[in-house]
Formats: sequence, structure tokens, C-alpha cells
Amino acid sequence: MKQIKTRHLHPNDTGLATAAALLNAGALVAFPTETVYGLGADARNGQAVAGIYAAKGRPSFNPLIVHVPDVDAAQALVQWSDTADRLASVFWPGALTLVLPLAPGHGLSSLVTAGLETVAVRVPHHPTAQALLRAANMPVAAPSANVSGRISPTTAAHVLDGLSGRIAAVLDDGPCPVGVESTILSLAGTPTLLRPGGLPVEAIEAALNGPVSHHAGDAITAPGQLASHYAPGATVRLNATEAAEGEVMLGFGPVTGDLTLSASGDLVEAAAALFDSLHQLDRMGKPIAVAPIPNTGLGAAINDRLNRAAAPR
Ligand code: TXA
Ligand code: MG
Repeated sequence: MKQIKTRHLHPNDTGLATAAALLNAGALVAFPTETVYGLGADARNGQAVAGIYAAKGRPSFNPLIVHVPDVDAAQALVQWSDTADRLASVFWPGALTLVLPLAPGHGLSSLVTAGLETVAVRVPHHPTAQALLRAANMPVAAPSANVSGRISPTTAAHVLDGLSGRIAAVLDDGPCPVGVESTILSLAGTPTLLRPGGLPVEAIEAALNGPVSHHAGDAITAPGQLASHYAPGATVRLNATEAAEGEVMLGFGPVTGDLTLSASGDLVEAAAALFDSLHQLDRMGKPIAVAPIPNTGLGAAINDRLNRAAAPR
């Protein structure tokens, strides 16, 4: 694809105005959210959205998450429900994405939904994401700002590693505090977890006063469903208690590594460090051994990403 100069913007008035103008012109702008950096485009503009798929080299059957600044803006796009209202009142803005039926007159490009009758919406909490969404004044489609199938970006440097020359700009506001993507919950039928993420499913179950079903089977194409998503270049071996000859080690808790996600065994700290640690170990060019991580709370999202990183490809 044709190379363009990628601008490095900062979250001051000029940077935000430039980023908003680029989005309005149909260009691609990477921006920080509390989970990971997103690669944003005007969700109403089919050509702009097509640019996302082209820049990422993403399989076109993957629908995208639409980002809006608040519940009112979400309600213009989807058929709202009592369950959506309850969850939004507790968890928005934040790391929860809701899949809901499209509202009449939603105005979104069908490329965003990959032709489905539903759309994924999210209200991010990050102040720079909020400021950009308000300045741009449009629904912004944004997958994670990485080349398809590679590790998600939690810094502007990660974004530029993969996408420099392919996107108009990156809005740099330092590392993302949560570090794993949002939790995706479908409310198109009974509440169903489509992807574990930055909001633990236990918190959703507590807010709903009942269990959430877990997506099984292969009906929906999701980063969740593509086995080798989030893959570093190196091979990954899980549940390792020590590095074998020639491996580099990603530690957790009592298992110390070349890099350690959290020496104290804190899953929040581990999630925030996950993708940056994988990027760093990947650059060492050796197979990666990973310590066992408990599967509760944010551990479910961490293990989901690690299982994909380790999947055969
Ligand atoms: O944290 C995040 O969610 C980040 C930041 C940038 O917001 N975004 C992100 O987007 O992870 P992406 O494109 O990597 O994940 C989009 C996924 C799809 O692959 C699919 O799993 C789900 O969202 N999705 C989107 N629309 C859907 C729909 N209508 N039905 C079911 N799943 C949907
Ligand atoms: Mg992604």
C-alpha cells in the first residue's frame, strides 16, 4: 500500500483538533483508550472503515467496535434495553463493550458490522479518548491499532512499530492503564460473554445478579475465535515454572522471569504489563516460556490472550 507520513500528535488543544479534523476527513488516527490503543476511523464512512481493514491487513469478516462518548450517543446507534441500561449505569465509561441490535437510522457503514444486524458499542473512560470523541463528534470505529494477528498496542511506540506509514496519525498519551482489550458482552439474546477482557466477568454477574453464559462454538468470528490472534513472532509455551535452554521467561508471582508481569501476583498490574512484556520478549528473538497465571478476575483475560499467543499457526 502507498506509504504516508504518520504524524505524532499529543493530547493538547492542537493535537486533539488535528486528530478530530483528520477523522472528519476520512483518515485513520490511532488513539489511546484505558484498554489498548485503537485505530480510529469515521464509522459512518465506508471508505474510511475500509482503510482500517487495509492498514491492519485484517480479515474482513471481523466486525469492529464503535466508540462513543456517552450513553446518549450509544442510544442513537442501537436498540437500548433495561439490561443495557443497568450495565451502562454501573460500568460506562469503562472497559465493557456491549453488542446490541442496530437501531433504525443508525447511519453506520455496513463494513463496521460486517453485515450483521447487531453492533458492538463502547464508551471509553480514558480522558484523551473522551476528548477526541467529543471533538470529532462522530461514532468512531476502532479495533486495536496493530497489524492483524499481532500483539495489541499499549503504547504509541507499539502502534508506530506496526502501522507507521500506513495511518495518518497517532495521538500519544503514554501507556494504557488497563492493558488488555475490553470485555465484550452480547445483549442480543441472553447476556453472553464473547470475549473476556479488562472488566472481570464476575463484576458483570454481580451487577446482573446472575450468571452470564459463555460463548461456545464458532458461530461468531471474533479476535476471540481466531485461534492464533495476539501472536508474537516467537513461539510461546504456557504454564512453565522455569525457562528451558534457549528460552526467555515471562514470570508471575513466585516464578521470576527475564520480565515479570507482577512479582506480588497482582492480576491488575499483570494485565497492564502483558502486551508490553510480550513485545519486549519478542524482540529478543527466542521462544517464550510463560509462568502459570490464575484464571480468576483479570486472569481470565490474560490467559485468553496467552492461549491465543501460544496457539499453533
Ligand atoms: O478494548 C477494546 O475493545 C479495543 C479498544 C480500541 O477499544 N478494541 C478492540 O477492538 O479490541 P477489536 O476490533 O480488536 O475487537 C472487535 C471484536 C470483534 O472481533 C468481535 O469479537 C467483537 O468485537 N464484535 C464486534 N461487533 C460484533 C458483533 N456485532 N457481534 C459480535 N461480536 C462483535
Ligand atoms: Mg485486536
